[in-house]
Amino acid sequence: MMKLSVFLLMLLMETCSASTYQENLAIQGKATQSSLYWTADADKAIDGSRVPTWVGGSCSHTANDLEPWWRLALPKTHKVFSVKITNRNEVPGRLNGSEIRIGDSLVNNGADNPRFAVITSIPAGETVDFQVPNGMDGRYVYISILGRKEYLSLCEVEVYGYPPTEENLALQGKATQSSLYGAADANKAIDGSRAPVWADGSCSHTANELDPWWRLALPKTHKVFSVKITNRNEVPDRLNGAEIRIGDSLVNNGADNPRFAVITSIPAGETAEFEVADGMDGRYVYIGIPERHEWLTLCEVEVFGSALD
Ligand SMILES: *[C@@H]1O[C@H](CO)[C@@H](O)[C@H](O)[C@H]1NC(C)=O
Repeated sequence: MMKLSVFLLMLLMETCSASTYQENLAIQGKATQSSLYWTADADKAIDGSRVPTWVGGSCSHTANDLEPWWRLALPKTHKVFSVKITNRNEVPGRLNGSEIRIGDSLVNNGADNPRFAVITSIPAGETVDFQVPNGMDGRYVYISILGRKEYLSLCEVEVYGYPPTEENLALQGKATQSSLYGAADANKAIDGSRAPVWADGSCSHTANELDPWWRLALPKTHKVFSVKITNRNEVPDRLNGAEIRIGDSLVNNGADNPRFAVITSIPAGETAEFEVADGMDGRYVYIGIPERHEWLTLCEVEVFGSALD
């Protein structure tokens, strides 16, 4: 019974985290293209309809241009991991050999951005999902047919990704730790100051104990991509071998959450960034020094990620 409920909970969490990225970002954007054929403007490819027949009136269409292109501008840069393209029903071969590029550049109409995928071919009227598992950052999604005169017609372009990661989420949270040394409470590690010198009063500090830990609670679960840690200036070795764990569990003070990174060492007074490209979902960021008696002191912990909604 116990095992079943844990299993169901995990299944529920899986379902929730998967569904939060199923929003088609393209709908929020604006599209443009190299030229216009009839009334089939660029926004027809982001009208929310996959209808693949020309008479359905839901496909974009350029003139017969040399290397025709279509471009979507999202409201802001996202980490894009999937682009789904629905091809025309009547003339599917026109899209053969086109490419998708994603980035923040408008140079060359967007053609200078890094390549996301090559469209070898898409069967008539079908939708194909092109994916880059770690994602690519960009505001612009550029699609172009290379090396020939062609009509570029797209019946739907859907874009899936995460919002950008620039805000230090830790500042919204509350911290706690296994014990207290002096006045160096856990929240000193999220006070917005990287000052690494003990005398500046901006570092957290536990007592000397077995398995000391520090934990941040964010207001809600986020997909965390990056954790930056600033080490003490005077005693940098204390942090050697500490681990960062992220998840939604408070079991064992958070030590049972999946491991995000191991801190081999951070030079005195410096800030190191630990990253997981696909991100890890969690409300709690746990930092612990396993299996030794130690003081745990942290001068700043910064957390970057995206909300799950
Ligand atoms: C496009 O690619 C498909 C699949 O390889 C092929 O059957 C078709 O002949 C190609 N069409 C053109 C116009 O190149």
